[in-house]
Amino acid sequence: MPRLNHLPEWAALAKHRSELGEVHLRDLFAEDPERGSRYSVATGDVYLDYGKHLVTDETLRLLQELAAARGVFELRDAMFRGDKINFTEHRAVLHTALRAPRDAEIFVDGENVVPKVHAVLDRMAAFADRIRSGEWTGYTGKRITTVVNIGIGGSDLGPAMAYEALRAFTDRSLSFKFVSNVDGADLHEAVRDADPESTLFIVSSKTFTTIETITNATAARTWLIEALGAEEAVAKHFVAVSTNAGEVAKFGIDTTNMFEFWDWVGGRYSYDSAIGLSLMIALGPDGFRSMLDGFHRMDEHFRTAPPEVNAPLILGLLGIWYRDFHDAQTHAVLPYSHYLSRFTAYLQQLDMESNGKSVDREGRPVEWATGPIVWGTPGTNGQHAYYQLIHQGTALIPADLLGFCKPVAELGALGDQHDLLMANLFAQGQALAFGKPAEQVAAEGVAEAEVPHRTFHGNRPTTTILADELTPSVLGQLIALYEHKVFVQGAIWDIDSFDQWGVELGKVLAKRIEPALTSDSPDLSALDSSTVSLVERYRALRGR
Ligand code: F6P
Repeated sequence: MPRLNHLPEWAALAKHRSELGEVHLRDLFAEDPERGSRYSVATGDVYLDYGKHLVTDETLRLLQELAAARGVFELRDAMFRGDKINFTEHRAVLHTALRAPRDAEIFVDGENVVPKVHAVLDRMAAFADRIRSGEWTGYTGKRITTVVNIGIGGSDLGPAMAYEALRAFTDRSLSFKFVSNVDGADLHEAVRDADPESTLFIVSSKTFTTIETITNATAARTWLIEALGAEEAVAKHFVAVSTNAGEVAKFGIDTTNMFEFWDWVGGRYSYDSAIGLSLMIALGPDGFRSMLDGFHRMDEHFRTAPPEVNAPLILGLLGIWYRDFHDAQTHAVLPYSHYLSRFTAYLQQLDMESNGKSVDREGRPVEWATGPIVWGTPGTNGQHAYYQLIHQGTALIPADLLGFCKPVAELGALGDQHDLLMANLFAQGQALAFGKPAEQVAAEGVAEAEVPHRTFHGNRPTTTILADELTPSVLGQLIALYEHKVFVQGAIWDIDSFDQWGVELGKVLAKRIEPALTSDSPDLSALDSSTVSLVERYRALRGR
């Protein structure tokens, strides 16, 4: 297959982009009164409005042709089938198998993996029920009331994000903490008010060799043993989630207390595996399964919906349009839900660790832009901080505005504020798209010199993602929507979205530098002069 930028479909998009010029959304909407409903997709409990994008029917047609020419659908089918499409690690990419129904059949190396998935889910459910009912107790017989997940990256962000998102569905008599940072402050704050007798640690790590997680888990074990005065206490207070039974045993956790997943689940695609154990304890097995059903609904939509109404495909293609044909460097994800406070942080790993690549599948430097910088925090807070730049700055920042029709039921009377929250979401989409022309500002009697300052050019593109209600199922649908969007983009950019070699160098260097900070006779000869100065200053201030 020719390189992406040598495809005629790519050239057609470039030509179309220059012909389209600075067409304004005001004109596109004026020309087509049906635009709002035509440029929308409804699937499951999710409605996607993409009318406020700098696109025409022609743009969408050309983008769809690019997807077809790049083999996106063939690669999608290969992923669902269990082919080893993560070719730099020689692995299948089967997070979709984690939410497949019990009777599905998905083969990896000739073995149907679905029974294994459900066996682990059943074990997780039994364990979660024992914790929730108080049947599983700590070493001294006390009920577990605090659950601490220790993990980082994909072994932290998913459960931490989903726990926040679904708090209203959790058992409020239990408290959950997520410790990730190797900064001792993280663990300290998590356990300083916890009762060791009723605290359970879940050590979550795909590899079980990640230095942050092992260091934190070791410190937590010391804290527990010192408090309870017995090494045997570990068996009742530590469980593990991993693909690596050998390392779990080496750490000292009985592998009967280990919940397994597999190398065909990428870290950033793993929170619906056993990595979600803390979440399952919080939600209960039914809530967790309902979330998995939500994921599966979106998987089926992505797998079977025709391209022109395929939500993840459309989102992915719009991203390509801005990244490669408008030079948009960043993409904002702005959830209008306080419960989605960690949603964008979760998406940062999903998107940026997947598509932050600069060589194609044959190892050649790409000649096109790949993954955008993903950022954002919940509205309305962001409106009073950085939205100024989105409205009137010089950068084009496509954004997703994400909200829910119904407030979370638990809010009771406070749910009345929901209309105001959502009015803000809709208003932002409108203001960003249509702006406020100078003539209108002047007509309001604004002094001439001030008109440019108060003018909004508009034409800032947004997708509005409107879901029914923030429930476990809807959260699953939304996360799968983004997973598959990222997949579409990686397929078009011709990169391996499932490896993460770019995180390795820093890990190696940190291991090398640590002795230079701690040893009595450090060897700094391998370090550059900048790092030597930093290390020397650090050592001096630490009295070394
Ligand atoms: O360093 C990056 C990374 O490998 C992520 O991809 C992964 O989610 C995270 O570290 C944690 O890895 P593990 O689950 O093996 O501890």
